[in-house]
Amino acid sequence: MKGWNFYKCFIVQVSVLLQTSDAVNVALGKPANQTDTYLTETADRAVDGDNLTCTHTSSHNASWWVNLQKIFLIRSVTIYNRNANSYRLTDVELYVGFSERGFQSLEGFHSGEVGASYTFNLPAPVYGQWIRVTRSKPYESLMLCEVEVEGTPYSAENGVHYLVFQGYVHTSAAMDVYAKVGSKLVCASMCSKTENCITAYFNKPTLTCSLFDSLAFQKGDIENDVTVVTSIAITNNSRKQLFGI
Ligand SMILES: *[C@@H]1O[C@H](CO)[C@@H](O)[C@H](O)[C@H]1NC(C)=O
Ligand SMILES: *[C@@H]1O[C@H](CO)[C@@H](O)[C@H](O)[C@H]1NC(C)=O
Ligand SMILES: *[C@@H]1O[C@H](CO)[C@@H](O)[C@H](O)[C@H]1NC(C)=O
Ligand SMILES: *[C@@H]1O[C@H](CO)[C@@H](O)[C@H](O)[C@H]1NC(C)=O
Repeated sequence: MKGWNFYKCFIVQVSVLLQTSDAVNVALGKPANQTDTYLTETADRAVDGDNLTCTHTSSHNASWWVNLQKIFLIRSVTIYNRNANSYRLTDVELYVGFSERGFQSLEGFHSGEVGASYTFNLPAPVYGQWIRVTRSKPYESLMLCEVEVEGTPYSAENGVHYLVFQGYVHTSAAMDVYAKVGSKLVCASMCSKTENCITAYFNKPTLTCSLFDSLAFQKGDIENDVTVVTSIAITNNSRKQLFGI
């Protein structure tokens, strides 16, 4: 009985830990980098848990990025601005990707100057290992006082076999195009069963599924693209291109 009570207590503690760890900042203390550094205001200052120490680049067309060191299901990203020269954190773009140099998808945009802080709540949680923060023109030095990433670790048990990037269009020719395909799930599974297929494009209005052997795609015109649903399923086969060999 004593042993059982101990066991029960252990289980309770573990589930409490899991619940609280659900919302942890998975970027804290992770390796960060930026295009270049002004004086001593290095990239790691945005992941040191202190929202008063800030990064600062010399160059204006600059990015800041962090390696989360494993794949997380990312739900939100909060950025903290500096009091002085806060205008520098304007028109901020948030990217999530699987590799430092590979394809990264645009998951958020903040138009105008960021206040003390801003949270990008992702419309749908996405898997990724690298977070990159940059801005659209006009550029200035990039400063960030903290970047917090809310995520849960990737687990195969989550049952995700493909990822969807909305608003992206392929820039290369399809290997195959199939008509009368019922859903993007079916389309993704057609890709995973086809040798050399890496991404699939499912066009909902026409129910066509196009298979591609490359990750050559780019952000489409989401605003004016209201009738055509563009989503790309990245299957297991894309690992080489996403993660490197
Ligand atoms: C940081 O980024 C710079 C610029 O891309 C690069 O030269 C440098 O090797 C990177 N440092 C690390 C530790 O990755
Ligand atoms: C900004 O940097 C990106 C990535 O290095 C580059 O593709 C782009 O041409 C640059 N734009 C300007 C205006 O310098
Ligand atoms: C910065 O961190 C402090 C201490 O954790 C906190 O009290 C404060 O609200 C944070 N600032 C912002 C803008 O959230
Ligand atoms: C994807 O690849 C992993 C690792 O190779 C494997 O364990 C998993 O079963 C694969 N999933 C699918 C849907 O093929």
